Amino acid sequence: MQVRIGDSVIELVLGDITEEKTDAIVNAANSQLAGGGGVDGAIHRAAGPTVIQQTNELYPQGCPTGEAVITEAGRLKAKYIIHTVGPVWRGGKHHEEADLRSAYRNCLELAARHGCQSIAFPAISTGVYSYPLDLATEIAISEIRQFLTDSSAPILIRCVLFNEGIYGAYSRVLEQ
Ligand code: APR
Repeated sequence: MQVRIGDSVIELVLGDITEEKTDAIVNAANSQLAGGGGVDGAIHRAAGPTVIQQTNELYPQGCPTGEAVITEAGRLKAKYIIHTVGPVWRGGKHHEEADLRSAYRNCLELAARHGCQSIAFPAISTGVYSYPLDLATEIAISEIRQFLTDSSAPILIRCVLFNEGIYGAYSRVLEQ
């Protein structure tokens, strides 16, 4: 499914983000940038050890929640990996929404500063970090829409969704 916003496109696909050929793919990391399970584990396994070497060298302090850092992409087809840290869901009253919005926005701004014309996102925070899927989806789509509305350069944003349930949530929100 695709929606056009000006000259840019938001696209939803069902699949594995490690296979994407977009200029950048986004990793849902932890604040130590230490690798982990979920999409983080899959990305590091597919990209190989150079990525964790780079995060250790370039970002020894890790990455705070809501921020984003960039590395090369090792063996992946993408050029860059943007590592962001979404919030852990703690009931919704611990600035989770602001942190998740900021994670999306910082990824998009960092990608633009590196000249990326295409970016693939997973559903940040919706796995191990337990953010309710419908709420996280609204935030993802609204931040992406806002960024595309504000920016002049045409860009492709692909949301790479790991199962039918997540794809369904995204398509319902994007259709609105
Ligand atoms: N491609 C696309 N999406 C994936 C993939 C994949 N290969 N693997 C998992 N996902 C999806 C999950 O289904 C979920 O919807 O990514 C989404 C985010 O889930 P997590 O990877 O668990 O990320 P998050 O909830 O942000 O938790 C981050 O998990 O692995 C650790 O180190 C990571 O501590 C950090 C935490």
